[in-house]
Order: sequence, then C-alpha cells, then structure tokens
Amino acid sequence: MSNRILVVDDTELNLKMVSAILVKDGYEVVTARNGFEALEVIKSAPPALAILDVMMPDMDGYTLCGHLRKIPSTAKIPIIILTALSGVDDKIKAFDSGADDFLAKPFEPQELRARMKVLLRRVSDREAVQSNDVDGKVIAVFSLRGGVGVSMVASNLAASLAQIWRCPSILADLAFVNGQSALLFDLPLRNTWADVGHSPAKEMDINLLNSVMLHHDSGVHVLASPRRPEDAEVITPEHVQRALKILRTRYEYVILDLPHDFTETTLIGLDNADQILLMLAPETASVRCAANALETFAHLKYPSDRTSLILNWPYKGKGLPRAGIESALKKEVNIVIPFAGDAVVTSIMYGKPSALQMPIDPLGAFLEDLAYLYSKDDHKKNPPENTRDRVKRVKERAQARQWKS
Ligand SMILES: Nc1ncnc2c1ncn2[C@@H]1O[C@H](COP(=O)(O)OP(=O)(O)OP(=O)(O)O)[C@@H](O)[C@H]1O
Ligand SMILES: [Mg+2]
Repeated sequence: MSNRILVVDDTELNLKMVSAILVKDGYEVVTARNGFEALEVIKSAPPALAILDVMMPDMDGYTLCGHLRKIPSTAKIPIIILTALSGVDDKIKAFDSGADDFLAKPFEPQELRARMKVLLRRVSDREAVQSNDVDGKVIAVFSLRGGVGVSMVASNLAASLAQIWRCPSILADLAFVNGQSALLFDLPLRNTWADVGHSPAKEMDINLLNSVMLHHDSGVHVLASPRRPEDAEVITPEHVQRALKILRTRYEYVILDLPHDFTETTLIGLDNADQILLMLAPETASVRCAANALETFAHLKYPSDRTSLILNWPYKGKGLPRAGIESALKKEVNIVIPFAGDAVVTSIMYGKPSALQMPIDPLGAFLEDLAYLYSKDDHKKNPPENTRDRVKRVKERAQARQWKS
C-alpha cells in the first residue's frame, strides 16, 4: 500500500494546512483544487486515501466521491469528507456518496490523524486477509442411505489431508440432526453450527467461524452438528452458503459430512463441492439410493466426473458383485473399501480415525491413499517443500493401487 494521500480543496490555505500535517507525519501528499483536477491527478498516481472538501466549484466533493468509487484504482480507497458543513443531512449525503468518514472544519490535527490511521489499518487488514486467501477444494461425502460409511470416510479424509499436506483441514458436519463428526475426533461439543446460526448470515465472517470450530491436534478443525436436533432450526441455507464460501478461501481442504437427504442445506453442500464421493454398500437398497442420487445429480446438471462412486463394505460376508453394481448404475465404481472388521468401531470408540492410527490400523493407510487420490492437483504436481517425504510414501502406495478418481 502506498502512503500517498490525495487532498482536494478549492481553498489554498486549507490545502496548505492539511498538507503540512500529513507531510510532517511522513505521508506523500498530492493536491487538487477541484474535482476535475483530482480525477486527472489520480490517473498517474492513485492514492491510498483521499480527503475531500465538499463545496468546490464545478464539481462538489460528493460528486467527486461518487466518481472515485467508480474508478477501479480508487474504488476501495478510504475517503474522508472534510467540510465546513456539519449538519446531519450533510453527513448522510457524504456517506451516501461512498465516503468512509466525515470530519467537520475546524478540526483538530490529532483527530484527522486518528481517523486516517483507523481507515488505513482497515485496508491493510483487508489486504492481509486477501493475500492469505487460498483456493480450497471442497469434497462432499454423501449417500442417501445411512450406515454406509459416510462419516467414516469424511473424518478420515479430513485427518489424512491435514497430515499429508501439513495444513489444517475443515470437517463441516452438515448432518444437523445427530451428526457425529466431533465424536469421531473425541472433541467436546463446546460450540456447534447452532452458534453460527444465532447471528444473521450476512454478518458471518471468518472470526465467527474460528470462534465456533473445534480444533483437533491432527490439524482437523470441526464445525460440529448441534447438540440437539431442535438447535438446528436456526441454521439457514444462507448460513451454510456463506460459511462454505468463507471456508474455502481459508482451508486448502473443506470436507463435508452430509446427511442422507436432499434438503436445501445438503444441496448447497453438493452444489459447492468440487468432488462428490457418493458412498454405497453392496446391497440392493444402497444401490437403489445411489441410482436415485445419480439421477438427481444429472437433473442438477452436475458434470459426471464430479461424482466418484465409493463402494464400501461395512459388513462381512456376501454382497452384490462390483460388475453388477456398475451395470445397474451405468457408472464405474472408482474405489472399493474392504471390510475392516472391528477397526472402525474401535476408532469410533476411541475418537481416533483410522488414518491417525497407522501403522496399527491397515484401513488407515487405505484411507490415506484415498485422500491422496482426491488431493488438489496443484498439491500433487508441486508438493510444498515440508511435505515431500510423506507425500513420496503415500504417492507410491496410492499409485500401486491403480485407482482412477
Ligand atoms: N469398511 C468398513 N469396515 C468395517 N466397518 C465399517 C466399514 N465402514 C463402515 N463401517 C461401520 O459402519 C458403521 C457406519 O459408518 P458411518 O457412521 O461412517 O456411516 P454413515 O453413512 O455416516 O452413517 P449415519 O450417518 O447414517 O450414521 C460404522 O459404525 C462402522 O462400524
Ligand atoms: Mg454419518
């Protein structure tokens, strides 16, 4: 951010006075005596902040302010209206024209300094936030049938991705009635989605989300389902939409544990997903549910490669053959997760997903490989320096499985 300040006033004395204060504080000052001159000056040197007088010939300060808001290089700079007019109407007019602050003449230099400082700090905070933005990948784990391993896969994906890429991941539990994500990580339910729902959606920001998410040592952050089903009533589709929009700019990986329905909030999760892992078990009802889900995705015009079919064996013994399932669904099964005996139940009991229990739990390695397969392409192409050793190991193992995402 430059330290150039634009001061516009038709009175030479005012220009000199304001400039003197600013120059003393180390700012670079550019001046203009009217709106047209100001618009000319900013072409070569867009300022970091502008201080505008109101009553000027040809173009008043409000009009100039409106113009500055329309020019890309000045659209977001802080603007202070500095004027002898001090009525409420004048202030309202100033804010309506796009000004950020209003200071009546005569003014105290300290007050001008203080107000400028606040406005400039806001800009630098905003820039800091924007430069931290990431282009996160949203992976939704879904099934219309319960008990097929949605939460098991979602929790392990979140854990594996955080571990492989050494960056926090977020597990957002959109199963608002009885979602168990926090339990799967043995996290006390201090806060939940219900705390997000208590404030208007449009006021939600990353600070609010940070204050309600639960942190696990593995690097997984959890936005947990409410304690009681009735607590979920305050959560609206707008809350979910906005939360996902914010989270994907802050987390490389946003994992959604979705409920077994097509409610509006579930659809928002699916709409926002870069990848949908559609889970099914090898039994007729589950295949029928998967067929229904695929049909709905087609109606919603989701590209077919957005959805991967994950066939999970949550029980031992007989099940429908893979080829039969593929021909019924007219879609290739991407991955088959084997029955893992008591490992999953044990991991739930201890609140420690399999992926965090390697090498004791072989299912953990399997699910870590699955996480690698669905990792961001730019991560796989260019692994961050501090992840190379682990990535090499996972990559070799995952490639040997010859999966197709
Ligand atoms: N591959 C597997 N091997 C052994 N057990 C499994 C496997 N997958 C799932 N299970 C078992 O199935 C149960 C259901 O899994 P999970 O809770 O992940 O499913 P879900 O689809 O999220 O179900 P719901 O949300 O309806 O409770 C788990 O308690 C676990 O014991
Ligand atoms: Mg579940």
